[in-house]
Amino acid sequence: MNEVSTDDVRLWGGRFAGGPAEAVAQLSVSVGFDWRLARHDLAGSRAHARVLARAGLLSEAELAQVLDALAALGEECAAGRFRPTVADEDVHTALERGLLERLGPLGGKLRAGRSRNDQIATDLRLYLREAARGLGGQLADLAAALTEQAHQHLHTPAPGMTHLQHAQPISFAHQLLAHVQPLLRDLDRLRDWDARAAISPLGAGALAGSSLPLDPETVAAELGFTQACANSIDAVADRDFVAELLFVTALVGVHLSRLGEEVVLWTSQEFGWVELDDRYATGSSIMPQKKNADVAELARGKAGRLVGGLVAVLTMLKGLPLAYDRDLQEDKEPAFDAVDTLALVLPALTGMVATMTVRADRLAAAAPIGYSLATEVADWLVRRGVPFREAHETTGRLVAWCAGQERELHEVTDAELAAIDERLTAEVREVLSVDSALAARTTPGSTGPKPVADQLAAVQAELARWQEWTAQPATPS
Ligand code: ARG
Repeated sequence: MNEVSTDDVRLWGGRFAGGPAEAVAQLSVSVGFDWRLARHDLAGSRAHARVLARAGLLSEAELAQVLDALAALGEECAAGRFRPTVADEDVHTALERGLLERLGPLGGKLRAGRSRNDQIATDLRLYLREAARGLGGQLADLAAALTEQAHQHLHTPAPGMTHLQHAQPISFAHQLLAHVQPLLRDLDRLRDWDARAAISPLGAGALAGSSLPLDPETVAAELGFTQACANSIDAVADRDFVAELLFVTALVGVHLSRLGEEVVLWTSQEFGWVELDDRYATGSSIMPQKKNADVAELARGKAGRLVGGLVAVLTMLKGLPLAYDRDLQEDKEPAFDAVDTLALVLPALTGMVATMTVRADRLAAAAPIGYSLATEVADWLVRRGVPFREAHETTGRLVAWCAGQERELHEVTDAELAAIDERLTAEVREVLSVDSALAARTTPGSTGPKPVADQLAAVQAELARWQEWTAQPATPS
């Protein structure tokens, strides 16, 4: 049945006297990393086979045979029974070999009107659109774990910091939700990216389109794209969709690194705000007492490779002449690495956050430390008509006096208050509690109990909507 030789699997052997030098084959081969696109390449092939049949270039019987063979090949790939060999240059070569092995010369008909240039751009878009949904689901899971901790600590006061110095008391829920908000924006970015990435390059061929009566719009729709590319040169040359996704993953990496850094601080002896579950911490090989926040540190550390991937792809693209150049093959490893890295980090971070114990007692005790209620004094003076400039001065003198005496603000006597400024009367003590400071914050988005509860409810509703988007397949099956 097999009438063609598949010994030479190259897709471009005709005009060459022999195969490439070993060093060239080694440099050129991409199947080691692009094999993960096999399922998407087969989906593209199914759509392309149908379009060839509609164009009269495959008979109905041939189409049925090709579709059967593609399905069988897909099953064999999924089961690991069909694998690329060392001779397969890339995923397209390997799958064409698989088709030739099953169909003989009929397997060679599928290449008509199509080039690896439009194929690879299509495969990568299909793969990354699917990956973006997976990533979105994992991001939403982390956001949900943080939100659940916020729910538990809606009424836990904590020190709020600027410059890593105690600034003003906050609700710990507010701090946790401040890590959720960027993740929600990242989810938004993923969905926006997806809409721009949903363009089908198939039909562009090598760069100029095809003389065969193909139907790119129908192919696009079959593959879950919203439209076919408007320009066949751009279709094979554009890697904006890779760079843009890598920006999103880099930014996610940066967001995770900031969360990771806070957890590292919170779990230190000096802070003691959070204790990690044993399953989400690691020990030391020499110091038996150690319990380290390695998950948080790895989340922080992985930001480097995620940012690096973005820089690598942008630098590769810069100055590339249109249309396709082999440099573009360098887009895949950074993209796959970003997807893989986040797929490793996010579930671990989610588990760590979900299982960590927040020491509400220590947070509450630390909330007023460092004269963090000083702003309340200044605002109290302002409410009594004192210009803020003077209120700030007076409160600053009060703080300096307290610091010299090693006293807290609420420990100053009436006479001592009056000696600092006669406008500081005994009633000022009413604002000198963390609870009153928090309760006074009623404006939307602020750290008071009501606005934080409102924010929590809004975040919970938004997360439920994200579950829907991430569950939708990018490509119809
Ligand atoms: N492995 C190639 C890539 O990733 C596939 C396209 C090759 N096209 C070509 N004309 N050599 O870009």
